[in-house]
Amino acid sequence: MKREDFPILETGIIYFDNAATTLKPKQVIESINDYYYYPANIHRGDYDNAVKISNLYEDTRNIVKEYINAKSSREIVFTSGATDSLNRIAFGYFNYLKEDDEVLLTKSEHASNILPWHELGVNVKYIPLDNNYEVTLDNIRKVVTNKTKVISLAYITNVIGDVRPIKEIIEYAHELGILVVVDAAQAISHLRIDVRNLDVDFLAFSGHKMGGPTGIGVLYAKEKLLINMRPMFFGGGMNVGFTSDGVRIYEDVPWRHEAGTPNIAGVLGLRKAIMYLNDIGLEKIADYELSLKKYAVSSLEKNPNIVIYNPNSTSGIIAFNYRGLSSQELASYLNKYNIAVRSGSHCAKVLSDEIGINNVCRISFCFYNTKEEIDKLVRVLNKLG
Ligand code: ALA
Repeated sequence: MKREDFPILETGIIYFDNAATTLKPKQVIESINDYYYYPANIHRGDYDNAVKISNLYEDTRNIVKEYINAKSSREIVFTSGATDSLNRIAFGYFNYLKEDDEVLLTKSEHASNILPWHELGVNVKYIPLDNNYEVTLDNIRKVVTNKTKVISLAYITNVIGDVRPIKEIIEYAHELGILVVVDAAQAISHLRIDVRNLDVDFLAFSGHKMGGPTGIGVLYAKEKLLINMRPMFFGGGMNVGFTSDGVRIYEDVPWRHEAGTPNIAGVLGLRKAIMYLNDIGLEKIADYELSLKKYAVSSLEKNPNIVIYNPNSTSGIIAFNYRGLSSQELASYLNKYNIAVRSGSHCAKVLSDEIGINNVCRISFCFYNTKEEIDKLVRVLNKLG
């Protein structure tokens, strides 16, 4: 699908590291170049180019709003990435939590959805995972108490690649007055997310995992929550006025959460990335990537030396090892054949408590991967004996 839009693929590389960052289509790269050829700051100039760029920037908020079906573009804050968004949610909104208030996570969360909660000084509890290392509503019920204030989960985890039953979890949480944070970093370009249908309270994602540039991300929150969130940064662009003795009046949301000159090029690149994904269609992408995963698992499983940790998860992520090799040795071996995968703990450093192993190799698919690439991977692995 659309391989011609990704120049690096012409080099022959087999790029299976899309969960770390996706490739960027030419259209995204060109939009960033266009901005730097004709730059202007936003929200402050009266000349044509400043007005044009300001309009494109604000229109991108609408494009994001439509993409996740938010109610209003006022619920969309541009951040530097999912990590930034998650930290703002923890420290900007949940700073009222007390030491014995509980936040429920799992051990397969990424560091950026574990460390902020520990830093906040609340009681972090882990929902037990089932035999497939997945979350079930039953297991959530077992650990919820009247102290539980937040459930914060990835929609798709970055190593196991399980797609969480987010809608059911949110329904259950809301019955108990618990707020739900969704880390959508790994899901945002791989399945359709409808925040209104899911009734998500907070959502975080990065542009660079959806064909966009690095350094840009989104924080979505229901408007009333965003209004109650304390800004993390203070300065130009987020205030209406202030006096020398400290009286401050801040902008409305979302602008009060965007102090300083933002990453304008990043926003414009994100704009093109979303338009690009919309042209293909998220449903088509999800089906195709799952078909790649199933094909790869069935081919890899024939080799008795390959151990797959997540054969049943329903996204395009495969966590595996080769008996007798460390995950890094395996990734280096694949690199000799121009196959890019990631090895290690993948920032999910407590997942090892669950799967019993510290490091794995990870393949993560995107819509431009093919079955022929998987065939080559399998041939190369079979050469190992
Ligand atoms: N979070 C990214 C990954 O899983 C970097 O590789």
